[in-house]
Amino acid sequence: MKRLFDPRSVAVIGASSNPAKIGTRVVANILGGGYHGDVYPINPRGGEILGCTAYPSIEAVEGEVDLAIISIPAAGVLAAIDACGLKGVGHAVVLTSGFSEIGKSEEERQIVEAAKAHGMRILGPNVFGIFSAAASLDATFGPGGIRPGHVAIVSQSGALGIAMIGKTAAESVGLSALVSVGNKSDLDESDLLEYLVDDEGTSVILLYIEGVKGGERLVRTLSKVTERKPVVVIKSGRSTRGAMAAASHTGSLAGADAVFDDLMRQCGVLRATSVQEAFNWVRFLSTAPAPSGTEAVIVTNGGGIGVLATDACEAYDVKLYDDQTVLKETFSGVMPTFGSSKNPVDLTGGASAEDYERALDAVLEEERMDAAIALYCETATADADRFDALLRDLYGRFRDRKPIVFSLFGGASIDRVIRSLRADGVPVFGDVYEAVSPLGALYRSWRGQGREPEEIPEASLDVEAVRSILVTAGAEGRGFLLADEAARVAEELDLPLPASAVARSLEEAVEKASRIGYPVAMKIVSKDVVHKSDAGGVALDLEDETEVVDAYQAILRNCRAYKPTATIEGVEIAEMVRPGIETIVGARRDPSFGPVVMFGLGGIYVEVMKDVAFRAAPVGPRTAREMIASIRSYPLLLGVRGESRKDTDPVAGVIERIGHLVTACPEITDIEINPLVVYDQEDGIRAVDVRILFDPPKGVKRG
Ligand code: COA
Repeated sequence: MKRLFDPRSVAVIGASSNPAKIGTRVVANILGGGYHGDVYPINPRGGEILGCTAYPSIEAVEGEVDLAIISIPAAGVLAAIDACGLKGVGHAVVLTSGFSEIGKSEEERQIVEAAKAHGMRILGPNVFGIFSAAASLDATFGPGGIRPGHVAIVSQSGALGIAMIGKTAAESVGLSALVSVGNKSDLDESDLLEYLVDDEGTSVILLYIEGVKGGERLVRTLSKVTERKPVVVIKSGRSTRGAMAAASHTGSLAGADAVFDDLMRQCGVLRATSVQEAFNWVRFLSTAPAPSGTEAVIVTNGGGIGVLATDACEAYDVKLYDDQTVLKETFSGVMPTFGSSKNPVDLTGGASAEDYERALDAVLEEERMDAAIALYCETATADADRFDALLRDLYGRFRDRKPIVFSLFGGASIDRVIRSLRADGVPVFGDVYEAVSPLGALYRSWRGQGREPEEIPEASLDVEAVRSILVTAGAEGRGFLLADEAARVAEELDLPLPASAVARSLEEAVEKASRIGYPVAMKIVSKDVVHKSDAGGVALDLEDETEVVDAYQAILRNCRAYKPTATIEGVEIAEMVRPGIETIVGARRDPSFGPVVMFGLGGIYVEVMKDVAFRAAPVGPRTAREMIASIRSYPLLLGVRGESRKDTDPVAGVIERIGHLVTACPEITDIEINPLVVYDQEDGIRAVDVRILFDPPKGVKRG
């Protein structure tokens, strides 16, 4: 990747004497950006382009070429890639559009194959180029003038990437790299992340993703990167494809975006909801010092805005420093007597600029307070210019020592102050929530970086035993398992199903019911009676022997009347599952991310509540427990209003085992246990219904 980010020489195929051509624009940016290596414009006419000798072909260049930027129409790209390969070029960045994004996937595959044959890598096609601060290389067709710094942006959207050049320049954000991945025919986000994590010039990475390719690798890579550097992601294109293709609750709940959101959290990635929020985060994360703790102090001259900031802190998980004695000691000498030293520290509207400065100085000098959230409402006596100078000075003195954010609220003069401070890199915002949000992002990323990665223990699963059940079912042309087959898989998964036995006579029914314990349920066992309830083949809540005798006779009578030709194998006697908290555990093969597990509130309302969590499988015990604790209904499992705590440890075990199974057994597309009833602690769980779908052997239709 060094030849891509720090090339010794760059050829631009498709540069022209016409300054309006994209290729020429790239050469102009390379020259204007201060690149020190050799630049070779390539044009069949030769001559000179922007003062550089132009070569009629890449073969004609005498020296080595590390990087080729290709900016010619699609029809000529394959031949150009071949020529680059023969020349020994390391990477080709293909700007040209007109490949898989318009359905020309075969043409795209051919250029990747041609590059592979020469050991060359491709960025693109359909990209705006690459900027790398390490080489002072701006090989994009953007507006130029990229400010070097420590934020790396990897964008799938060309337009957004180019717009970022102007935005970052206007707001004094420096870039270490700006890379467009376009169609991701070869190099994708994971390849670039693997380089950027070791790049000393990069302190924060911003990803803009439209669609995920190679999701399993992306999750692994992101998990490693976020241990060392913050990664912010924006994703558009909330597809419902996954949900539409799905044949289970797990599937329909796994709308592509729900899975993406949870998996990013699992990787420690900060997902922003808007481009502006992402921009605010990376800007702050690239300049704020590493926190020493997470307890912030709000200083305000307005009570209302202080309360708003308190709400924002709760929303973004920013803790407020709460030692009232220390707060009183710290602020008693520096604030008006009518102010409040509780956090938010309210200096009130009568506070002078000096009061404000003294109070902020006190927060920033006090070691026990970890960050300052400085709020200011314009007052009649305020002098905006004076305020501008005051904040500038304060930020300059403390910017390397403690995280500070500012929120100023007022009219035109305050807006002017905000603009001028922002242009100089001061983290100042108009809205309180906007100001607190980057601080929350800093803390989330910091907590993630301090976390030990989870070791995933080996699973003790007999995968071959499961596979042989699938093979038998597949041979019958089915893509799903029958209840008894699913029960055998459940046994392998150590899933506690309700106790059951098949009775072939009335005496056996009575004996088995008393062994299982009342109340029991009874159900006809016959392959010929598919809709068992409609046939009168089911009886529930049977309390004693008399009820079992009556039900047995009624079930046989009903089913014989319903289908006289049916072969009846017996009647199943099963434990009636006691009520408890109904949860759902599922696993499936996600089209983008591969094996994922799901946990949530189950039962019949599962799709209404959508209270579920996803993680990439396999998962270890820590992740399984975190999934359980992350759903909104978690308090139900902790026990509400004097109820006892529920037995969640066995649930975590099921999540782990099901994750291992779907990972080890790629034929399985969906497993779902719904409901998985959870009882009080020590009382365990019961899996009431287990459904398993798998890919049947080729040529066999899913049943
Ligand atoms: N080797 C070298 N030069 C070649 C060549 C080759 N194999 N084939 C053509 N050229 C020359 C052309 O003669 C022309 O030079 P000239 O002006 O001296 O005649 C120059 O390269 C450019 O070719 P041209 O045919 O004029 O194409 P163009 O510059 O109008 O368009 C693209 C080329 C790549 C810009 C266009 O096809 C395209 O894909 N545009 C969209 C780009 C985009 O938006 N990308 C995604 C961004 S996110």
